[in-house]
This record gives sequence, structure tokens and C-alpha cells, in this order.
Amino acid sequence: MKPRPLLLLPLLGTAAAQTAVTIAVPAAPPAHAQLVPSFPVGLSIEQDRFPDWAGHLGVPNNFTRTLLGNVKDRGGTPPPIRVGGTTEDRTWLSPNSSLRYYDDVFPPSSNSSTQKLYPEATIVYAGSDFWRTTANFPQGTEFTFGINLRAQDPAMAAAVATRVWESVRRENVSMRAFEIGNEPDMYGNWSIGLYTSNWNAAAAAIVNATTTSFGAPTFQLFALANPNPRANFTVSGALAAGVAQGAGVKGLAKIASLHHYNGNPSRVSDLMRKSAVSSQVGQFAPEISAAQKAGLQFEFGETGSVGGHGAPGVSNVAGSVIWAVDYVFQALSIGIKRVYFHNGVCYRYNMFQPIAGCNDGSSTSAPHIMPMYHVLLLLAEAVAYPGAVQVAELETGNGDVSAYGVWAANNGTLLRTVIVNSAAYYSNSSAPRSTYAYTLPNLPMPQGGGRPWLRRLAIPGVERNSGVTWAGQSFETESGVPSGTRVDETLVQDTFEGRESEVVVLYMREG
Ligand SMILES: *[C@@H]1O[C@H](CO)[C@@H](O)[C@H](O)[C@H]1NC(C)=O
Ligand SMILES: *[C@@H]1O[C@H](CO)[C@@H](O)[C@H](O)[C@H]1NC(C)=O
Ligand SMILES: *[C@@H]1O[C@H](CO)[C@@H](O)[C@H](O)[C@H]1NC(C)=O
Ligand SMILES: *[C@@H]1O[C@H](CO)[C@@H](O)[C@H](O)[C@H]1NC(C)=O
Ligand SMILES: *[C@@H]1O[C@H](CO)[C@@H](O)[C@H](O)[C@H]1NC(C)=O
Ligand SMILES: *[C@@H]1O[C@H](CO)[C@@H](O)[C@H](O)[C@H]1NC(C)=O
Ligand SMILES: *[C@@H]1O[C@H](CO)[C@@H](O)[C@H](O)[C@H]1NC(C)=O
Ligand SMILES: *[C@@H]1O[C@H](CO)[C@@H](O)[C@H](O)[C@H]1NC(C)=O
Ligand SMILES: *[C@@H]1O[C@H](CO)[C@@H](O)[C@H](O)[C@H]1NC(C)=O
Repeated sequence: MKPRPLLLLPLLGTAAAQTAVTIAVPAAPPAHAQLVPSFPVGLSIEQDRFPDWAGHLGVPNNFTRTLLGNVKDRGGTPPPIRVGGTTEDRTWLSPNSSLRYYDDVFPPSSNSSTQKLYPEATIVYAGSDFWRTTANFPQGTEFTFGINLRAQDPAMAAAVATRVWESVRRENVSMRAFEIGNEPDMYGNWSIGLYTSNWNAAAAAIVNATTTSFGAPTFQLFALANPNPRANFTVSGALAAGVAQGAGVKGLAKIASLHHYNGNPSRVSDLMRKSAVSSQVGQFAPEISAAQKAGLQFEFGETGSVGGHGAPGVSNVAGSVIWAVDYVFQALSIGIKRVYFHNGVCYRYNMFQPIAGCNDGSSTSAPHIMPMYHVLLLLAEAVAYPGAVQVAELETGNGDVSAYGVWAANNGTLLRTVIVNSAAYYSNSSAPRSTYAYTLPNLPMPQGGGRPWLRRLAIPGVERNSGVTWAGQSFETESGVPSGTRVDETLVQDTFEGRESEVVVLYMREG
């Protein structure tokens, strides 16, 4: 562990108009705290250009590796990866045995929308080494791979699953689950019945083809775009229709995934608003509870700020990461176990651009991170622990401030407290940035002695697309290796100062 500079906080000025916020942090997890069994933030990667993220065999994408390695350094686990999306159902095994990576057919690009500027492939031919590029991810990376359901070809599904699993096993990363079909509720004319029979046929073929060589597979179910009770495209509707209920498959389905994008906010301040985050997440309560009843872990297998690859000025600006931190903790607090943010090459809502040349509003054409990247770093530290943790939302009495506690699941020790200030500070405004006086009475002291300390996720203004720092360091470097010295601020009294548009993490224990 790096030495920690002791930085005493200035005493609060009496003249400044500050908003006072008092947060009672229970020493033990409250009854409604939710278990978080594993690292809860993943990257969902659009399947058509997966090797652009990974790099080629023997030629890894070092930018991807460094950025994901930073997360592993902080939390002990690299972020899980789901490869899928619309092009999951447009992927075929290439008949050309000399093709190693991919041969994609793209529609013409146009400036009429962010989605059309970097369109998804209409056909993806996956070559012999397409899935082997998983080798380039940090050791221990857990993969979920999408399989084409719309093709209605169980033999191809089985062949792809075999190829994927062979690659992942050989390359020392891990296989978490197969997802058969992306957003089947959007196929156009598929009924729940047609979906069910096709899904079951593909799953049976995959089980049959892989179990002997690799062990029984795990399935991530549904990947629905929107719960639609009238069409039975819901967790309970699809289970009642018979998805994954066949002998030999039942019991292998462990995860219920739904997708969610957060509407069409015109300004990033609308995306960030505390009440918006809780209602966007809260609407999934019936689906979460249906999944729990069926013994499935509920996750957002694909999510993001604004659908259609993100909105300029909303998805690619610094306010988006304040939103993302609140969104993840809000999700964890109501029983969602994992949130995968979607990424595609050059999309606006990405965590980073893995290759050069993206026209995404950034001032650099080199590979670069975007504000959203920092949600990985912050979460890695906030939930870091040798075992599972529990998370609960805490009362703040303030419509712009959310707070969450993180406790060790094994013995209930308070590990961290996270304070998200979602009041939007626009750096181009003439109004000064508001400050807050947070008081956390009776905060338990670290077990090994000393005082709690804090780290900040700082942004220069919600509308800016760079200038974000985490604990005083900048990750906006050419290599992805952070620059600057980590700053820990020791908490010298119960009250400390915060600002609009900022996340503060208080630590009672490291790692
Ligand atoms: C990637 O990193 C490896 C090992 O650090 C190095 O040998 C290689 O040259 C790098 N590749 C590029 C394209 O920078
Ligand atoms: C097969 O793929 C190789 C490698 O990309 C390419 O050179 C060759 O032209 C392809 N053959 C056909 C028939 O498309
Ligand atoms: C989109 O607009 C930019 C800037 O005007 C231009 O350089 C680029 O060629 C355009 N792309 C397409 C696909 O029209
Ligand atoms: C695979 O992982 C194991 C244990 O984590 C390690 O000992 C081994 O060297 C790794 N193999 C390769 C090829 O990276
Ligand atoms: C759905 O539409 C496609 C394309 O229009 C058609 O080929 C297919 O037969 C339809 N399926 C059903 C079940 O109606
Ligand atoms: C299971 O695999 C065997 C041999 O690989 C094959 O003959 C059979 O058709 C498969 N059954 C299904 C349901 O895919
Ligand atoms: C939905 O499921 C219910 C109960 O299983 C069934 O009665 C109903 O017909 C289904 N509706 C559709 C549109 O599939
Ligand atoms: C809780 O468990 C952790 C991990 O085993 C241990 O380091 C810590 O001392 C325990 N704390 C208490 C209060 O028992
Ligand atoms: C500040 O920037 C936002 C977003 O770019 C813009 O909508 C707003 O009009 C700007 N405000 C001023 C005072 O320039």
C-alpha cells in the first residue's frame, strides 16, 4: 500500500453558506441491506468488434489491458465482461477457415445520429481466433458470451458454445455464462412461445455438446429490452412459458438479465437527478422479486445512460459518472446483483475508446478514457473485501445527496460509506459551486486504529468531457497508467466539506 499523506481538512468557515447534511451510519448492516456476492460492475461489449477491444493473439490491446488492470489492482478482481448486444444475433461462424478475427458487414455511416455514425454490423463472421482473444484480458476475467438465437440454428449455437468455451479455458480466463439471444422481445414478430421453443432447443444442444468436455454450462436468461407483461416477456412470463424448464437445463440457469436505458434526458443534470435514478431503477422491483422467487440472480446485463449509443453532452460528459455511481449503488440497494454498462467502438456512452480515431466529442483521436471509466475504479475500491459485502441506502434528508453503507457480509463490520452529490454544477455558469457540510455522527473507527479517511471523485463541471480525477489521480493519460499521487484525506472530526457534483468515499478499512 502506498503511503498516505495526511491532509487535515480545513475547519468549516462560518461565513460560507453551506448546506448541512447529517447522515446516520449504522455500525451494523440494517435489515434491508442487500448481499453483493461478487464485483458488481461489468462491461458489456458489442459483439461485432470484440477483437478491437481485446487485440489480436500475441498483440494485445495494451490500452484495454492497462485500464482493466487498474481496476484489478484496486479491487482484486478484473471487471466481468459480457460480449453481446444486437450483433449477438447477427454473428455466424465464418465458413472461411483462414479468417482469424472477424469479417463484418457494416451499413453506411452517417452523421444523422450518434448511432448511425458508428452503426452496428449487419453480419458478423467470426473467425477461428475471434474468441481466443479473451486471452488478452487480465487473468481471472469472467466472461459471458452471447449466442445467436435468431438464426434458429441449435447446431450452430452448440458449435459456437464449444468454440467459446475451448478458447476461454485455454486462455486462463473464466467462463461465467452463455446468453442465448439478445432482446428477443424486439425481434419483431416472435411470440413468447416461439422464443421459448427456440431458446430451449439451443440450450439443449449447447448442454449436449459441452457438458462432457467442459462440465455443465451456466445460462444467463432473457436479456429483454423491456419487461412487457402483455406479451409475457417478463421474468415470470417467460418462466411460465417454459424457458429453461426442460430436464437437463433447469438448474443451469442462474441469472435473470434485463436491459435498461434511462430514457432521453435532454441535459446531463436530468440524468443525474437523485429522484430520477431511484425511479429508473425502482421500476424493476417486480422483476427482481420474480427472479428471486425463481432462485435466479437479477442483473442489468446491458445498461447505459441513453439508448442508441449515447447522447452527446449527456453520456460522454463528467456528470455521467456521478450518475453511474448513484445508479449502481441504487441498483445494489434494491437487490440487483450486477450492472453491465454497454460499450461499442466509438460510442458516446463508453467507459473508454479502445482504438484511435473515434469522433466522440473528445479532443484526442488517440485511444482514451471517458468519464464513465471512473465508475469501475470507484466501485472496485468501495466494495473491495476478501468476501461478499452488503449494501444499503442511508437517509440523507436531502434531494440532491444519496448515501450508501458497505458492510462486510461475514461479520457486519462497516467498511465504507459512499456519498453521491448529484446537484449539477455547470462550470460555464457564473454561480459559484455550492458546498455541503456532511456530518456523520458516531462513525466507527477503523479496527486497526487511526481515523477514517476519504477519497473523492472530482469533476470540473458536469458538462466537461475531461478533467475527472479519482483520489487526486488522473487516468486521462496516453497509456492509461494514472498520473499524480493518490490523495487520502484523514477525517479529523465528524463534519467535513463536500461540493456539488462529487462523490466521496469514506474508508474504515482498505481492501
Ligand atoms: C504492449 O505491451 C507489451 C508489454 O508491455 C509491449 O511489449 C508491446 O510493445 C506493447 N504494444 C504496443 C502496441 O504498444
Ligand atoms: C478468407 O480470409 C482470408 C484472411 O482474412 C482472406 O485473405 C481471404 O481472402 C478470405 N477468402 C475468402 C474466399 O473470402
Ligand atoms: C460527419 O461529419 C464530420 C464533420 O463534419 C465529417 O468530417 C465526416 O466525414 C462526416 N461523416 C459522415 C459519415 O458523413
Ligand atoms: C493460469 O493461471 C494459473 C493460476 O492462476 C497460473 O499459475 C498460470 O501460470 C496461468 N497460465 C497461463 C498460461 O497464464
Ligand atoms: C417473422 O417475420 C419474418 C420476416 O418477415 C418471417 O420470415 C417469419 O416467417 C415470421 N415469423 C413468424 C413466426 O411469423
Ligand atoms: C447430442 O449430441 C449427439 C452427439 O454429439 C448428437 O447425435 C445428438 O443429435 C445431440 N442431441 C441434441 C439434442 O442436440
Ligand atoms: C401469457 O401467459 C398466460 C399464463 O401463462 C396465458 O394465459 C396467456 O395466454 C399468455 N399470453 C400471451 C400473449 O402469450
Ligand atoms: C471481520 O472479518 C474480517 C475478515 O475476516 C477481519 O479482518 C476482521 O477483523 C473482522 N472484524 C471483526 C470486528 O470481527
Ligand atoms: C453551459 O453548457 C451547457 C452544456 O454545454 C449549455 O447547455 C449551457 O447553455 C451553457 N451555459 C452557459 C451559461 O453558457
